[in-house]
Amino acid sequence: MSERRIAAINAALLDELLERAAASPRRRAIHCFHAGDWEHSHRMLNALKVGTYVRPHRHASEFQSEGFILLRGRLALLIFDEGGHVLRDQSLIMSAEDSCFGMDISPATWHSLVALEDSVIYEVKGHPAGGYVAERDKDFAPWSPEEGSAEAAAYLRSLEEEARRLAPRRG
Ligand SMILES: [Fe+2]
Repeated sequence: MSERRIAAINAALLDELLERAAASPRRRAIHCFHAGDWEHSHRMLNALKVGTYVRPHRHASEFQSEGFILLRGRLALLIFDEGGHVLRDQSLIMSAEDSCFGMDISPATWHSLVALEDSVIYEVKGHPAGGYVAERDKDFAPWSPEEGSAEAAAYLRSLEEEARRLAPRRG
């Protein structure tokens, strides 16, 4: 195993990652702290520019809880029922202004992230033995359009409207 570095999370790293996200057609970028897909605990920075489409999905394995801490920006985490309706009582806006700094979700929960401002989160995700395996990592919601499809832009706008309608839960 390679020697572990100590990684700092500072403003320069957040700036750099947001620049990478701006240059990406997906309008988001990830910086990993874990050493490889094989790790059980994946830790990463995720920079999301306004307009990125995070297709609703869920992680089925009982090891795949996910936690998010907001470092910059304003971001909604939308939770959906089986039919694709937003569960407003479970969804949250993460924003330092509203003293809501993050969220932790259980496995098998349909979710999506909507950037209301250019944002960076620290994200932690568990994985079963064998670590991250793309084929089993997530199920995309069958009621949501595929990323890059003709319907995705209009659907994202509807998610953004849902996100703006959420009342902040102040801490
Ligand atoms: Fe996820």
